[in-house]
Amino acid sequence: MIQCWRLDHVGQTIVFSSRQQRLPEVVYCGDLLPDNDDLHALADSLNRPLTPGTLDQIVPLSLLPEEGRGFPGQPGLRLNDDAGRPALTQFTLTETEELESGIVFKCTDARSGLVLSLSLKFQTESRVLEVSSVLANNGDRDWLVSWLSVPVLPVGEEFTDIIEYAGRWTQEFNRQTVPISRGVHLRENRRGRSGHDHFPAMIFAETGAAYTKGHSCAVHFGFSGTHEMLLEELPDGRRQAQAGYGEMQRLCRGDSVTSGIAYWAFSSRGLNGLACDFQQHVRRHIVTYPQGAGARPVHYNCWEAVYFDHRVDELKDLASRAAALGAERFVLDDGWFGANGQGRDDDTTSLGDWFVDPRKYPDGLHPLVDHVEALGMRFGLWVEPEMVNLESALARKHPEWLIMPADAKQVAGRSQYVLNLTNPEVGEYLFERIDWLLSTHAIDYLKWDMNRDLTLAVDGEGFPLLIRQARALNALLERIRSNHPRVEIESCASGGGRIDYGTLRHTHRVWLSDSNDAHERWRMQNEAFVFLPPEIVGSHVGPRHCHTSGRRLSMPFRALVAMTGHMGFEMDLRELNAEETDKLTRYTQLYKDNRDWMHKGAQLRLDCAAPESLAQMIVSDRRDRFFLFAGTLDVPRNETTAPVRLSGLDPHARYRVRLLNADEINRSATRRYENPLSGPDGIVLSGTALMQSGIVPPFPFPDTIWLFEGQAEELT
Ligand code: DGJ
Repeated sequence: MIQCWRLDHVGQTIVFSSRQQRLPEVVYCGDLLPDNDDLHALADSLNRPLTPGTLDQIVPLSLLPEEGRGFPGQPGLRLNDDAGRPALTQFTLTETEELESGIVFKCTDARSGLVLSLSLKFQTESRVLEVSSVLANNGDRDWLVSWLSVPVLPVGEEFTDIIEYAGRWTQEFNRQTVPISRGVHLRENRRGRSGHDHFPAMIFAETGAAYTKGHSCAVHFGFSGTHEMLLEELPDGRRQAQAGYGEMQRLCRGDSVTSGIAYWAFSSRGLNGLACDFQQHVRRHIVTYPQGAGARPVHYNCWEAVYFDHRVDELKDLASRAAALGAERFVLDDGWFGANGQGRDDDTTSLGDWFVDPRKYPDGLHPLVDHVEALGMRFGLWVEPEMVNLESALARKHPEWLIMPADAKQVAGRSQYVLNLTNPEVGEYLFERIDWLLSTHAIDYLKWDMNRDLTLAVDGEGFPLLIRQARALNALLERIRSNHPRVEIESCASGGGRIDYGTLRHTHRVWLSDSNDAHERWRMQNEAFVFLPPEIVGSHVGPRHCHTSGRRLSMPFRALVAMTGHMGFEMDLRELNAEETDKLTRYTQLYKDNRDWMHKGAQLRLDCAAPESLAQMIVSDRRDRFFLFAGTLDVPRNETTAPVRLSGLDPHARYRVRLLNADEINRSATRRYENPLSGPDGIVLSGTALMQSGIVPPFPFPDTIWLFEGQAEELT
């Protein structure tokens, strides 16, 4: 007996089939199928030949492959009783709930009494598929679940590569491409945050797939506490992708456990197709702003200006300078707090003591907040609530609040330790302190930092707690948000150590990296934009002489890189000379004049022939205007520049295109540039011509971005 279901949504179809009422499998996932396609025939057409030397049946790659059915690869579920005996489940499909744009399969294992729900859903107008599993225990035994995957999707055999992100502090989103090969490719993080080293996502791409062409699909696991993601190729060639927490969970009688949520996107239009779908999904269904999205205010963050050396007069001066440049929010970073005569003068003390340091702020934060407000800016504050220094009043009073397993030596990280948020007293203390700060000051923004990995992360009974710790954090964030609905929160973890859709459900911005080096940022941001829309990616104009890399970079380059994200400044503004001040003011105004459409549009990366080039476009949602940021990071190989081919335009519309920063043409690099693009009227060309023939920018020195503006004269 075979049953089939189809899920049609925004130009895509997914077909499921189940034989003999077993767990369903995905038999089709791609472009919308005609209404009358025969789903049974489709499923049958995929029956594979049985060959010698194998089991007498090809066990289906179901939505949760079961060891108990003889599946030869990685099972989607692993659980044992307290004697270590595995539950070799054989689920049968008992109920199917067909939703408007989703489907939930309910399955029962008669022997164990386990009930599995596999949910695959699209949200309104989004092409991103959200998948999650729930396992309930209706049996008479307790279990320990070591692995519960989200519903498993097959990965096509046409895909040859996994594109994924490695990295470290100040080097987030380092792209690596791994050829798909026989066996398991596993990426994981069990350190309490999604991690600098592995943004929890995998992209599967066919040979030759690029930003503007080719087939690919991608999966992101949206949780920060811990994750495991794997791609397995079986000896028969089939591939499966799994994702889940990868931490032991107790499943007591009458209880249930979940897998977390993974997000899939599919594209036949290159990686930009994935980017468009993920960016829109985050905007519509993940990040929720206090008063709707609104214009993302230009930030000034004082960290790289003063570090821990807070002096109210100096900070007021910086705020005044920032406002004059066009900043709209002042964020007071680390260093403002302390208790009992001890304050945060370096990174060895005071985390946990969330009281305003009277040595630095004798009249509290109010004089600074008032000054910032009088300048017409909003006020943001840095906190790192999950952490504690041993050198603090809090650690002295409550050493039992630390995650510190008995008889084991916890490793310090940046001289700090982690509080056990699953202890309600800890949550209560942190809520009370943050609630006080927000209730007594005009603060509408928290930069929520988290500067160390969780190691030896077990509770008082020695049981792993990463999942519960992350959930407790999310609950704390929600409590703060519901008591202070106007407050926005930035997720920072030594830069981009905690970026994932789970965290973004409770926050509004990510601090992508502690590197304010625009050269590094340009590369990182362009990778991150596959999964994140520009307006949530904090991007600051850093100091002329970059603190984390030593590079010296021009103001236009720094400002243009910042313009492509959520723009801000982070430097000692007293270092700016007149020319830099003028340029920064102009680029900031340009950002403000255009952010409304930029932050609704699609951020597309372009495929450039030259390895030193890295170009992106932001195209408005109506495709009536665009910015092209044509960047060069190294000394060009060729004697002159090649055309850059645009993307995402209306092929029939005619666009007037102009080079906006022709004043940056350096005559030592470009001797002559007789191109109407640099003139006041620019050039008018069709979308087709711009996408197929392209436009030629001036010859750059390294670390240059040419900014072109396009406006449609006629739309089709
Ligand atoms: C790490 C963050 O990423 C920085 O931006 C800054 O806030 C420091 N922590 C402060 O300690």
